[in-house]
Amino acid sequence: MKKILVVGANGQLGNCLRRIAFDYEWDFTFLFVGSSELDITDRDAVLDFFEEEKPDFCINAAAYTAVDLAEKEPERAFAVNADGPGNLAEASNETGTALIHISTDYVFDGETQISYSEDNFTNPPGVYGASKLKGEELALEGNPKTIVIRTSWLYSEYSRNFVKTMLNLFDQKEEIGVVGDQFGQPTNANDLADTIIKIIASDRKTYGVFHYSNYPETTWYDFAAKIAEYSGSGIRINSLSTAEYPTPAKRPVRSTMCLDKIEEHYNIDPRHWENSLQDCVENLMDTK
Ligand SMILES: NC(=O)c1ccc[n+]([C@@H]2O[C@H](COP(=O)([O-])OP(=O)(O)OC[C@H]3O[C@@H](n4cnc5c(N)ncnc54)[C@H](OP(=O)(O)O)[C@@H]3O)[C@@H](O)[C@H]2O)c1
Repeated sequence: MKKILVVGANGQLGNCLRRIAFDYEWDFTFLFVGSSELDITDRDAVLDFFEEEKPDFCINAAAYTAVDLAEKEPERAFAVNADGPGNLAEASNETGTALIHISTDYVFDGETQISYSEDNFTNPPGVYGASKLKGEELALEGNPKTIVIRTSWLYSEYSRNFVKTMLNLFDQKEEIGVVGDQFGQPTNANDLADTIIKIIASDRKTYGVFHYSNYPETTWYDFAAKIAEYSGSGIRINSLSTAEYPTPAKRPVRSTMCLDKIEEHYNIDPRHWENSLQDCVENLMDTK
């Protein structure tokens, strides 16, 4: 049976992969390791681990995801988001393992009205995006059997994310402000996990860069409004401009990605973001 190694397994994507692993227990054996078991910045440890386990596939769910803090900690961001995938690529190449590496829409500056395709010009607006872009390059260079999946605005029932932050704020406040002039595509990490496993299970592999998210585009303000609707909250939400809500890291104004390539090559049918969001909010409300 083919073995799938998941590194960074305690974050939101890692937990979503754990959740669906049961559905695939007849097809794959899964090995989930968190940062305390395998630190992807430790090259020797990564090489030894792959030599010992010889997985058929490695999913890199590990990342430094603190977008604003990255501006103050560029070395740490680059260690995890660039050197880490570089180490995984080197080790996976030596064992013949296919690498599935996750990246971000923040590799784009968002200064365009078109939806970004995989070969469009990258120009990260901040340290986080720059570190992720370097990670893509090192992963692709280090192992020809690498699939990079860029995703956007990830949320789930697990870890910290925008949906959980909004639900907490709705409990504490009567009125909040959310940015209404930045556009992107929210993505339920459970859908991303499903997509990754479908790609791994597919007979014909195409390596390289792919975009995956839910669709179509929306704003953070409309995203928050739907979270309120699905959770039954009566909170008042005001739409703010980016200038009214300054953050240490600059965000892309419009980082909407075109999803045609993954649909064509892997027959993936992305879900409407509202349907995926409703599932997640209902799950979170049920466990409250
Ligand atoms: N979150 C988003 O909105 C978003 C948007 C676009 C793309 N992405 C990308 O999607 C992927 C998954 O993101 P996520 O939201 O699931 O991330 P997450 O919840 O922040 O989880 C990241 C995991 O990486 C682990 N990690 C950090 N440093 C590590 C190291 N040196 N070695 C091994 N593991 C390490 C963390 O473990 P510890 O907690 O123990 O440090 C954590 O469990 C990432 O590649 C991210 O860049 C995320």
